[in-house]
Amino acid sequence: MAKSKTAYVCSECGADFTKWQGQCSECGSWNSLSEVRLGPTPANRTEKFSGYAGAAGVVPELQTLAEIDLEALPRFSSGAGEFDRVLGGGLVPGSVVLIGGNPGAGKSTLLLQTMCFLASDRESLYCTGEESLQQVAMRARRLGLPTDKLKMLSETSVESLVATAQKLQPKVMVVDSIQVMHMADIQSAPGSVSQVRESAAYLTRFAKQTGTVLILVGHVTKDGSLAGPKVLEHMIDCSILLEGTHDSRFRTLRGSKNRFGAVNELGVFAMTEQGLKEVSNPSAIFLQRADEIAAGSVVMVVWEGTRPLLVEVQALVDDSHQGNPRRVAVGLDQNRLNMLLAVLHRHGGVLIGDQDVFINVVGGVRVMETSADLALLLAVVSSFRNRPLGHDLMVFGEVGLSGEIRPVPSGQERLREAAKHGFKTAIMPAGNAPREAIPGIKVIAVKTLQEALSAID
Ligand code: TYD
Ligand code: MG
Repeated sequence: MAKSKTAYVCSECGADFTKWQGQCSECGSWNSLSEVRLGPTPANRTEKFSGYAGAAGVVPELQTLAEIDLEALPRFSSGAGEFDRVLGGGLVPGSVVLIGGNPGAGKSTLLLQTMCFLASDRESLYCTGEESLQQVAMRARRLGLPTDKLKMLSETSVESLVATAQKLQPKVMVVDSIQVMHMADIQSAPGSVSQVRESAAYLTRFAKQTGTVLILVGHVTKDGSLAGPKVLEHMIDCSILLEGTHDSRFRTLRGSKNRFGAVNELGVFAMTEQGLKEVSNPSAIFLQRADEIAAGSVVMVVWEGTRPLLVEVQALVDDSHQGNPRRVAVGLDQNRLNMLLAVLHRHGGVLIGDQDVFINVVGGVRVMETSADLALLLAVVSSFRNRPLGHDLMVFGEVGLSGEIRPVPSGQERLREAAKHGFKTAIMPAGNAPREAIPGIKVIAVKTLQEALSAID
């Protein structure tokens, strides 16, 4: 007889234990363990493995990699090119997508628009656990979306939702949000790690077995992680974050895990009166510079997935009044900043050991690329010397530990993009310099940090 077991799960980090304890030994939080009943485990297995020769069982039909039919992965478009781009080309039946983001980022709006579009030629179900049906309907009508096909359900019980879904057999199902869903046989509050985990697991099994696309909405906690991140991570196929700053109407969609495509693609939307609108050519949207360029501002071209993006990096270098000068990077990696400042000191001869250094990438963009190195250092030097750089200067290039400027991928495309937006001068790695001049833009090809510094002297 199969029997159910009990586990104690930490609501902070999701670790589980067989015994209750006052403090979670994984993350150190106090009083965070709660009891969870796990489903029955299969009865003890007793089969013995016999030798290959004597095996009586039928060998299942096996295929080599080459024989596997790729057409068996029929994707369909979500209706928004920017969303498809991040998904890796569209939605895959039976896959589970998690859309995370701060409250107000626009997750419900994005999914409502997507689902109204999808419902036109396939059965679609939108389960709202947060907003009432009237609220959702009001929004859909205000946005002028087609409202006659999408099936709506206001429900927070996973069992009822799955029962409804089994009758309707939708091809796509949205659960907004996973944090309010709960299962009757789990004795903890909705939103707790165990509820989120079990609800998501149950819904995922449903999606896999029926080939339904399941889109889960998840709110991000203060530190930027989804509730129960560890527990959800391995269950879902695709995890996407919708981000945006309060002062900007732009929203970016970025994958952090995708079993069906690359994760480095960036989708860009603008939040307007008519809902989220795609920005299909976003290369310069984050670039709104004042006419008068201040010291410490440099424009760089970074590469996001398959597209260039022009962004401004700003530096502020100021006398430090503390023994330990501050180095703060927003939108860039802090450790990389420290490393680059050491290179600037050692190979550029710029002494800023007694200065606070603040770096900000304008527009709330996060840059993960090493091509930003050179722009960052030139911004620092520009601020330190209080000397603005040219209005039409663009910079990119990786800086090595011995002060060499290394080429980066897609150098020519970056240069062309800058020329297209009216930049007249580019300081860039010699290794990326084009053989033939690109009209309208002058290239200053540099091999070392020293050369780059003399170019702005
Ligand atoms: P919402 O989709 O409810 O966010 P989430 O589900 O991620 O919490 O988006 C709400 C925000 O979007 C809200 O601050 C208002 C804004 N918004 C617009 O500016 N225009 C619109 O057309 C809509 C529907 C929302
Ligand atoms: Mg919402």
